[in-house]
Amino acid sequence: MANVAVIGAQWGDEGKGKVVDWLASRADIVVRFQGGHNAGHTLVVGGETYKLSLLPSGVVRGKLGIIGNGVVIDPEALLDEIARVEGQGLAVGPDNLRVAENAPLILPLHAALDKARETARGERKIGTTGRGIGPAYEDKVARRAIRVCDLAEPATLSAKLDELLLHHNTLLAGLGAPVFDKAALLAALLALAPRLLPFAEPVWERLDEARRAGRRILFEGAQAVMLDVDHGTYPFVTSSNTVAATAASGAGVGPGAVGFVLGIAKAYSTRVGAGPFPTELVDATGQMLGDRGREFGTVTGRRRRCGWFDAALVRQAVKVGGIHGLALTKLDVLDGLPELRINTGYRIGDKIFSRLPAAPGAQAAAEPIFETIEGWSGSTRGARSWADLPAQAVKYVRRIEELVEAPVTLLSTSPERDDTILVRDPFEG
Ligand code: IMP
Repeated sequence: MANVAVIGAQWGDEGKGKVVDWLASRADIVVRFQGGHNAGHTLVVGGETYKLSLLPSGVVRGKLGIIGNGVVIDPEALLDEIARVEGQGLAVGPDNLRVAENAPLILPLHAALDKARETARGERKIGTTGRGIGPAYEDKVARRAIRVCDLAEPATLSAKLDELLLHHNTLLAGLGAPVFDKAALLAALLALAPRLLPFAEPVWERLDEARRAGRRILFEGAQAVMLDVDHGTYPFVTSSNTVAATAASGAGVGPGAVGFVLGIAKAYSTRVGAGPFPTELVDATGQMLGDRGREFGTVTGRRRRCGWFDAALVRQAVKVGGIHGLALTKLDVLDGLPELRINTGYRIGDKIFSRLPAAPGAQAAAEPIFETIEGWSGSTRGARSWADLPAQAVKYVRRIEELVEAPVTLLSTSPERDDTILVRDPFEG
C-alpha cells in the first residue's frame, strides 16, 4: 500500500490543512517530520474549529499521530495545544499520540534568542515566527540540544543545561537580552518530564511495524520548498529541510517508504516574512487577492504578501521537492479577474533564467517573465468536477501543469473539505 507525503510547493500557507485533513481521514497514521510550532493550520471538523500547530492533523480525525525526530518540540507549546484540543472534547494520550524520543526540544531561551537576533538585525530581519525554531535546530546540529529522552535522565539533563547555558547566555548577554537561570530551567524541565515522557518512544520502530502490516502512513510537511534551508530563498527560509526527502530522515524510515509526494500550491502566490518574491503585486490586485483569499498568517496573524502564480518557482519546487502531483488550491480567489499572469522564468540584467538562481543579489534582482492568460467570468467556487469549471479556468490549470511539469492531481475549490476535484488518489500511488 502506497504512503503519501504532503509538502508545500511555494512559501507555505498553500492550504495544506484542508488537503492533509482530507487525506488523514483515509490514512492510519499521520506523521509530522520537520518544523515545529511555527506551522499552523485550522481544521473544521463536525462544526468545531481546531487550530493545530504541532499536533499531527490525524489526531483530530481519530488516527494515530506521530511527531518525528525531525521536528523541534516546544514541550510547553505541545502540552498547551493538547490541553486546548482536550478542552474542545478530544482526548489526546499515548494511545493516539507518540513522540520521537530523539526529537530535540525548544526551550524558552531559543525563542528569546530568536527574537533578540531579529531585533538586532533591524532592517535586515528575516521575519521569523519568533518561536525559537532556528536556534533549536542550530543546537541540534551543534550536538548540544536537549532531546525528549534526556528528560528521563536528570544527571544528563543537568550537565547538558550547563553546556547549553554557557553558549546561550553568552549570546543573550552580548545582545543585551536577559540571561537564563539554570536552576529554574532544570526545575521546569523536570516538572514537564512526567507529562511528556509517556508519549516518548522510538517511533521508527512503530513505523517499521506499521509498514510491514500494510498500514497507510501520511507524512505531513510544514512550511514549503521555497522555505527549505538548502533549496529555498536562503537566508529568508526556515531552519529545516522541507522537501519530501526529509519525511524519511525526519521520521526514521527509508526513502522508499515515503511513497507518493503531493505538492500543494495556491493558484496564485503568497509569502509571509521578508525575502525575494519576484511576482509580488504591491498594487490593488495584490490587495484584492489578500482580501479575498483571507491572507493572514495562522501563527503570526501577519498579512501575507500576494502575487501572481510563479510557475518557474513551482517547477523548481517540483524538481527539488520530488513532487509527483500537485494539489492546486484557492482557484476561486481568481474568479472574475479579466486577465491573469503566470510567471515562466526570470530576467536578471541581460540574462534569462528558467529557474531562480541561488545568489541573494540575483534573487532580489530577478524580474518575472509573464505570460498573460484570459480570466473567466463564471465561478469556480465549490466545483466538484471539471465540467463545473468555466472553460478558461480549465485552460489556466492546464497551462500551469505544462509549465510546472507536473500533473494537477487534486483541485480544491473552497475551504470545504468536499469541494475538491480529485483526478488521482495519492494513496493509490
Ligand atoms: P522561522 O521558521 O520561525 O525561523 O521563520 C523563518 C521564515 O519562515 C519566516 O519568513 C517565516 O515567516 C516563515 N515561516 C515559518 N513557518 C511558516 C509557515 O508555517 N507558513 C509560512 N511561513 C512560515
